[in-house]
Amino acid sequence: MTLSPSHPLMDGRTANSPLITAYRGGTPSRRPIWFMRQAGRSLPEYRELRVGTTMLESCLKPAMAAEITLQPVRRHGVDAAIFFSDIVIPLKLAGVGVDIVPGVGPVLDKPIRTAADIAALPELTDESLDPIREAVALTVAELGNTPLIGFAGAPFTVAAYMVEGKPSRDHLGPRTMMHAQPELWAELMNWAADASGKFLRAQLEAGASAGQLFDSWAGSLGLADYTAHVAPASSRAFDHVRDLGVPLVHFGTGTSELLGAMYAAGGDVMGVDYRLPLDEANRRLGGAVPLQGNIDPALLNAPWEVLEKHVREVLAAGSSAPSHVVNLGHGVPPETDPAVLTRLVELIHSI
Ligand code: CP3
Repeated sequence: MTLSPSHPLMDGRTANSPLITAYRGGTPSRRPIWFMRQAGRSLPEYRELRVGTTMLESCLKPAMAAEITLQPVRRHGVDAAIFFSDIVIPLKLAGVGVDIVPGVGPVLDKPIRTAADIAALPELTDESLDPIREAVALTVAELGNTPLIGFAGAPFTVAAYMVEGKPSRDHLGPRTMMHAQPELWAELMNWAADASGKFLRAQLEAGASAGQLFDSWAGSLGLADYTAHVAPASSRAFDHVRDLGVPLVHFGTGTSELLGAMYAAGGDVMGVDYRLPLDEANRRLGGAVPLQGNIDPALLNAPWEVLEKHVREVLAAGSSAPSHVVNLGHGVPPETDPAVLTRLVELIHSI
């Protein structure tokens, strides 16, 4: 453990919070809830603040990133903040030409496909992460007893953007490369693992009380490919932060068949997407792993009675696990009515 004595997890601010207690498998004083993608487009105050600033610029302005991180905590009373940033920020900070195109997602100036492209990848330096540390410090100074969750993209999800150069549905480019050029693929994955690992470590050291690795596109892989060509790099990303003793969450979408392999690769808590009921996820993990999830984001737009019935089913299924942090089964859709999220937090806290 190398966290400073003034870190929120060390000085008494967050160690006994409902979120951290549940992440550690204990019994929290109330059911913790937060939402993936709670900071951002569903909030009018976010859209207002972002006018005139691009997405990546807003991530690199510490005061703005801190303010956006705090907005959903103030509005909804959630049990955690998630740091406002993006999985491609480490690329940007390393000097890779990347932008986030509104309505599209991450786009690279030039896809990374050849041995020369990979050899030319710049290393992410420690100093370049200073704006991240500063934003985290500003955030936790305002959060009091509410923990901040740091995050990074898992190497496969990051590398998928690097190889395709843009979002894709089937991830054919990276899936071809892992078989056609396995050594090159491993090199690229190691680069992505180190970039994500350093990005996450900077957030944890600066004051985040938990960390989450997002493998949003791992669901395009079969178990054999995941195990052989992806899990070692995910494990390497976790290696950057394991010594800190901070609870770590591992989340993927479409990864019901990979759940055990993902847990083996790293993480103390498994994030479960909306496709797999939590009691089944718990069974697959041998009844030993704290779970996070998995309200179907599609139901946020359903009549309240339909949503409430679903939420109660999620809580019932989640009660089979050693502990349960309530969340969505993927991110908040941009068109979500924020009032529904606030009401959902009230409901969860009342049960
Ligand atoms: O609230 C939070 O969760 C914190 C911030 C956060 C963002 N991105 C902000 C963001 C987090 C944790 C992410 C992670 C992320 N980024 C993932 C993994 C999570 C997931 O949803 O699967 C992925 C795959 C990305 C890559 C990415 N960045 C995409 C696909 C997009 C959407 C592009 C679009 O416009 O449709 C982004 C942009 C992005 N990241 C936005 C936000 C708030 C939208 C930018 C805007 O406001 O214009």
